[in-house]
Amino acid sequence: MIDLQLDEEFAVLTLRRPAALNALSFELIAQIGERIAEAGRSNARALIVTGEGEKAFCAGADIKELQQRGLRAQREGAELGQAVFAQLDRLPMPSIALVNGYAFGGGCEFALACTLRLALPNAKFGLPEVKLGLIPGYGGTQRLPRLVGQGRALEMVMTGRTVGADEALSIGLVNRIVQAPGLEAAKAYAREFTGNGLRALQFAREAVQRAGDLPLHEGLRVEADLSTLAYRTKDAEEGMQAFVEKRKAVFRDE
Ligand code: CAA
Repeated sequence: MIDLQLDEEFAVLTLRRPAALNALSFELIAQIGERIAEAGRSNARALIVTGEGEKAFCAGADIKELQQRGLRAQREGAELGQAVFAQLDRLPMPSIALVNGYAFGGGCEFALACTLRLALPNAKFGLPEVKLGLIPGYGGTQRLPRLVGQGRALEMVMTGRTVGADEALSIGLVNRIVQAPGLEAAKAYAREFTGNGLRALQFAREAVQRAGDLPLHEGLRVEADLSTLAYRTKDAEEGMQAFVEKRKAVFRDE
């Protein structure tokens, strides 16, 4: 089951299927989509995603459920997983994966789809699909190279090997390693940006994320468009006025 709690200024989404290391059945993926939408409608300033238990963030797609499916069902399953994780890009608030143990296959892909990633020291990342005769299907082949470069992504996808927290940090797969209690650490990390207006954060996220897809000159045009939109917000008016008046800005996400 997928749990969404509003906790202080955060929405916390927890994968709760510890007996199967939080593996993603299709039912669970659909629930994740519903909970992400719910987070989007809340007043939270960041979404934190994590897994129940100390062993796993998420061990990937439910392998038992993947067996003996028709090709059309398999394709629809991949498109569902991709679409649900892509919802994170359109959320009004940034998302943070708090990886507490195994993040394999679809679990690693869920973390990759979040805006930012934190690892507890026992985090283990991997895209082991080739060992099952498969390849990643929930966005991993596209998001991983954008994050760590094509060479490292090819190595991870072709070997299926496990990457620990230190290596994940050194290759840019995670932003930081944090200590337990992870949720408190994730909240402290999020507070480094949650005081900024959500409109500016949303425009900034979109501009930086488009850099991974676009040729430089098209990206620069997107940046000019989004920075002009940011300039038109009341938060921009307030932010610049607060600077001139030497006070802290009060952003209203308008
Ligand atoms: N699907 C279904 N069940 C899973 C699972 C998965 N991905 N991962 C773990 N489980 C279940 C196990 O079957 C086991 O259940 P039972 O007790 O009923 O047998 C339980 O969770 C505990 O797992 P293990 O006994 O295997 O735990 P372990 O500590 O020995 O090993 C592990 C942990 C190395 C993560 C191992 O469970 C493992 O390799 N899991 C599979 C990881 C994987 O291949 N993920 C990719 C899936 S495919 C995919 O995700 C495609 C895509 O791109 C969307």
